[in-house]
Amino acid sequence: MTPRVACLAFALLLATACGRPAPTWHGDVRPVVEGRCAGCHAAGGVAPFPLQDAAAVRAHAEAIVASVEARRMPPWQASEADVTYRENPSLTEAQVALFRQWMEAGMPEGDPTRPGAPLAPVSAGLGRVDLELALPTAYATRRAPDDYRCFPVDWPQSAPTYVTGFDALPGNPAIVHHLAVYLVPPDSAHLPAQWDAEEEGPGYTCYGGPSGGRDSTVPTLLLSAWIPGFAGSTLPDGLGILVPPGSRLVLQVHYNAAQPGAEDLTRVRFQLADAVQTRAVYAPWLKLDWVAGSMPIPAGTSGVLHQVVDDPRDFFKLFAPDFDFPNGFNVHSAMFHMHNLGRHGEALILKPGGERVRLLDIPRWDFHGQREYRFTAPAAFAPGDKVALRCTFDNPGATDVNWGEGTADEMCVVNLLVTPR
Ligand code: HEC
Repeated sequence: MTPRVACLAFALLLATACGRPAPTWHGDVRPVVEGRCAGCHAAGGVAPFPLQDAAAVRAHAEAIVASVEARRMPPWQASEADVTYRENPSLTEAQVALFRQWMEAGMPEGDPTRPGAPLAPVSAGLGRVDLELALPTAYATRRAPDDYRCFPVDWPQSAPTYVTGFDALPGNPAIVHHLAVYLVPPDSAHLPAQWDAEEEGPGYTCYGGPSGGRDSTVPTLLLSAWIPGFAGSTLPDGLGILVPPGSRLVLQVHYNAAQPGAEDLTRVRFQLADAVQTRAVYAPWLKLDWVAGSMPIPAGTSGVLHQVVDDPRDFFKLFAPDFDFPNGFNVHSAMFHMHNLGRHGEALILKPGGERVRLLDIPRWDFHGQREYRFTAPAAFAPGDKVALRCTFDNPGATDVNWGEGTADEMCVVNLLVTPR
């Protein structure tokens, strides 16, 4: 069938598609691939194959159509909520449809002299870089395929400083799967250095947090997080996270490489301020009892729900003692954390009248896709409200599982970026 005949045949079904000329690589598909795929699907990037030219996209066309229609790609786990997210790379319906239309039209090249307009970037990046820190020396992975490694890094500022923006530059983008930066306050800053010294090579093994399941622990206080394809970004205007002098940072890197011995030297970049309008903190919300071992997920069970529904303000104070929230707080972002048995996670604000504000709902949890979900406008927590955190787990294995920082343990945490109201 010629395209024209096909168009007539489908005219009733696809009236709009026939009204316009078939999409082309240069005119339509390329801007979407460059703007939403190529950040990860680059040569030497984290994704399994590059998508940098028409030939590569043609070669993977069927898989691409399937992955965008199923909304597996670009990765984004959150479903619709009562907040809207910024830096959301998800394709529009029209962009999803484009790939199938292009494939069915025979994947024409189009006119390279008339390229389509580039898409707006998902994140704006840092306006300026005030501080760059790196791993002390290159690290060669010691485990495969997954190696979870924590690297303590000294915080060099001698006065109280606020972090207002963050970006990471993976040394070896093919193996850096995601990265979190934890803030270790001065009074426990000696511990990560000690753990580093106890293990061979730079850094130490860690998985669920910066303490790596050791008996002595440092508070799990998030400073920033990064995933591949992310150009870095700043906190909402006027906000900053205080880093006291004498703190230490712990860079937690999840490496994924087929063989051990893959080298990396990752750098992280910060935008800083001496003073900010509003001090923000990443406050973790969870149930203290869980940490003491009361989060059982028995062997051979599925749909095991653990939840906490409470006013989190006293708990937040454990992480930010001088923080006061008498009038409640604003939530600017949410980041979930479970391990490999997690299936469904959600975080909501419950109002006394029964109203619910869904902050984050992850219907099909995937450990490898964890990221921070930032809101375009903050959600308000007023005195009298509660925050509900719910985690559902499946444990098909033969071993009982409980709370812990190891790969075989589980966790249920939501980190909320909060400011006082
Ligand atoms: C944040 C990084 C990232 C971005 C952005 C991204 N991918 Fe991927 N992609 C991956 C990774 C990692 C894998 C392999 C692991 C997996 O399947 O999750 C993958 C796998 C795939 C696969 C094979 C597996 C499957 O799900 O079918 C296809 C096809 C694909 N990507 C297409 C795309 C397209 C098209 C886009 C843009 C619209 C895109 N990706 C954007 C990281 C990314």
